Amino acid sequence: IDLQPLNTLAIAARAAHFARVGNLEQLREALEYARAKNLPILPLGGGSNIVLTGDFPGLVILVEFHGLSLDDNADGTSLCAAAGENWHRLVMYTVEQGLGGLENLALIPGKIGAAPIQNIGAYGVELRDTFTDLQAVHIPTGELREFSATDCQFGYRDSVFKGAARDQYIITRVRLQLPRKWSPRLDYPALHQHLAEHGHSAADLTPAEVAGAVIDIRNSKLPSPDDIPNAGSFFKNPLVDADCYEGLKKAHPDLVAFAAGEQWKLAAGWLIDRAGWRGARRNSVGVHDRQALVLVNPGRGSGAEVTGLAEEIAADIRAKYGVELEPEPRYYP
Ligand code: EPU
Repeated sequence: IDLQPLNTLAIAARAAHFARVGNLEQLREALEYARAKNLPILPLGGGSNIVLTGDFPGLVILVEFHGLSLDDNADGTSLCAAAGENWHRLVMYTVEQGLGGLENLALIPGKIGAAPIQNIGAYGVELRDTFTDLQAVHIPTGELREFSATDCQFGYRDSVFKGAARDQYIITRVRLQLPRKWSPRLDYPALHQHLAEHGHSAADLTPAEVAGAVIDIRNSKLPSPDDIPNAGSFFKNPLVDADCYEGLKKAHPDLVAFAAGEQWKLAAGWLIDRAGWRGARRNSVGVHDRQALVLVNPGRGSGAEVTGLAEEIAADIRAKYGVELEPEPRYYP
């Protein structure tokens, strides 16, 4: 099967085997099939955080579990969503009911089942801020397992599912806790500014208004995969120690960086932009012209073209700033 319509970078690649699963029984059947044939597995949600570097020799499993429930409890609202639910639709569903907690994460592409894997985040909020637990199927045994927030080992764009438990689980449902007492999270400069410019004061904001501002900001600089194929930020913002930060700041006084405990998180988009890459084009692929952290694939080039450009950029940033960039989406196979 052709995977081009199933990944937001629109890379043409084929899967040797393919299954679309809507419930646990179908998922276990697919896993058994793969086990019998000794096939590697690629679970797919929205395909918005992967780079297909070639044809996939194993079984691609499209996880299409659906369902959503809300339950009031002492602390607020518990929200339980099946892995195949669309993330943005879920955010909009909550804010339309006046429920806060997810509004800063509006318009992030993908499905909820993928959200914990990289601990999705934007505008000062991450999934882990509302996450309570998830259920996943253990690929080698087909058993269902529960993961608490601690079990998930969330970090910046990171979790146990990118580390020790990598390729071991397929997430089937995720539970979040939305607080009863909500207050807007406006620490992110661009969000704060946008709301102020539109005459909002923090005191009388609603979750829907914050979501609206986030949607405006994202639309102004991030390309929609429907228009220009992309996978969002292509690199993580690198964490560096204070010495490294101070050296760079001296050489580049307008460097953009945020304190992160003892370390500093550098805006990789700023580094790539300053290195002259914004709007660059290499055959089918390129760097978005309004956000240098986003690689785009308007010519529907191969995975090798995308990773080649990423390597070229990383080498240039290493040479110019001595900083190592790490790709954010996962490469398959
Ligand atoms: N900047 C530039 N030039 C650029 C891009 C950015 O100078 O071409 C500067 C901006 O002016 C700003 C700073 O760099 O001062 C940060 O840029 P931005 O606010 O656009 O955010 P980011 O750090 O590039 C991160 C996330 C995004 C998330 C935004 C908002 C990562 C890897 N990326 O991007 O997440 O939406 O912050 O919170 O952490 C994603 O993960 O796919 C993603 C889009």
